[in-house]
Amino acid sequence: MSGVRPAARRHLLSIADLKRDELVELLALADSFAEVVDRPIPKVPTLRGRTVATLFFEASTRTRLSFETAAKRLSADTMSFGASGSSMGKGESLRDTVETLDAMGIDVMVVRHHSAGAPHQVARWVRAAVVNAGDGQHEHPTQALLDCFTLREVLAERAGGQAPEDLDGLKVAIVGDVRHSRVARSDVLALAALGAEVHLVAPATLLPCALEGWPIAGAGAELDELLGEMDAVYLLRLQLERMSAGLLPSLREYAARFGLDAERALRMKEGAVVLHPGPMNRGVEIDASVASSPRARVTRQVRNGVAVRMAVLFHLLEPAGSTPGSPEGLAGVAR
Ligand code: NCD
Repeated sequence: MSGVRPAARRHLLSIADLKRDELVELLALADSFAEVVDRPIPKVPTLRGRTVATLFFEASTRTRLSFETAAKRLSADTMSFGASGSSMGKGESLRDTVETLDAMGIDVMVVRHHSAGAPHQVARWVRAAVVNAGDGQHEHPTQALLDCFTLREVLAERAGGQAPEDLDGLKVAIVGDVRHSRVARSDVLALAALGAEVHLVAPATLLPCALEGWPIAGAGAELDELLGEMDAVYLLRLQLERMSAGLLPSLREYAARFGLDAERALRMKEGAVVLHPGPMNRGVEIDASVASSPRARVTRQVRNGVAVRMAVLFHLLEPAGSTPGSPEGLAGVAR
């Protein structure tokens, strides 16, 4: 492809690429956009004239709509590409597909793909900034950011006001199919970088084969052992589509040992919350009554996802040299 690459081109491919201070900055930036999302007319002209394209090669409801909503609330133009019905059905390659879209003058490509590393590869081919919206079993960085934002909100409620900078000391259990979960990989990195104490709770067959290098406090405990101490329980969907046979005796047995039912929810600490990235399997990892109880922050996660993705899009496209959250950069937000 010809053309001049913008000097300050950035991507968001992995939480591993972000330092604690960058995470803190993005969350603080998302605070400004959460205020926009709460307005009667939740729209600012900040990214007018910019184009954000979502390229989803795998199923999605909330992530795709959340990015598109975020882009629209920033007044960016949006384009939506889905592999089915496209020329990929005629054999066009991923590279030719993304280069074709890039040639139309797109500023940000939001990419979800069933293969780990696909968004990284796309970033090498295109001029646009690339956001990883979930790649195979690898990472889902904006999910981790919105989860951290939601937990920060919980801490702010407890403190009766201002959100703290990070999640220092917060105890979080991530429960379920960690092995196949890109959400778990990104969340562990982000939570630990922000000072949270992270425990993995799962049957041995659903833990990653190797946990060296994972910044966690522990793995493999029973849910009932930890439940009473946790500030947050993060339930993962069983990724049945990624599972080979024999990893689970039965869904019933899994639900009995690792599912958060009403009785277990009663044993949680006062003020402790339940998170889930969605889509939920009610009756498996989470009981329907818990999903709709005041402990559950699942719809709050979805709402916060829009503000967090607005922050990410803004951060990737803000004028070179402006500090995130600076009055200059946020001129449109202040209106
Ligand atoms: C997750 C995903 O697709 O990675 N969902 C989401 O983006 N909110 C989790 C899942 O599918 O279980």
